Amino acid sequence: MALLKIVHYPEPVLLTIGKPVGEDEFNDELRKLVEDMFETMYDAQGVGLAAPQVGISKRLFVMDVPIDEERSNKIALINPEIIVQEGEQVGDEGCLSFPGIYTTVKREVRTVVRYKDVFGKQQELDCTDLSARCVLHETDHCDGIVFLDRMSILKRELAKRKIKRLKKTGNWD
Ligand code: NI
Repeated sequence: MALLKIVHYPEPVLLTIGKPVGEDEFNDELRKLVEDMFETMYDAQGVGLAAPQVGISKRLFVMDVPIDEERSNKIALINPEIIVQEGEQVGDEGCLSFPGIYTTVKREVRTVVRYKDVFGKQQELDCTDLSARCVLHETDHCDGIVFLDRMSILKRELAKRKIKRLKKTGNWD
């Protein structure tokens, strides 16, 4: 396994719609990429990581959100498609492509996502709360949308100012 380089905003790949993973791409190479993405995510202490964040403009992401002390849902979602989103939750959110930025983001509280697993089999995940937040955040990455776009105007301006400051002091590349 290998650690991949996580790119930071505003790398163009983060703002580009990812290409769907083709039927013929569900192979060892894809499974290796998924393993590397898990390793990279754990190393960075994140709960979700999308392919564009490691410079690959494709529609897939990995996540591992704790459910309780014993269980988590470690899962790789390929070609994710949100088929249900409902309700509302307001909570703090971060992103490995925005190191040091944590801010309140409003999202739906429940989502159902249809996706393919690493073997190309169609699956569905029905989830709520932090898992739903993660699925929506990471699916956004596949669409070239970053969480900055989901913030209120005020929070976005504050975040942009902080990024500028972090760049000036060499804490953002
Ligand atoms: Ni993110």
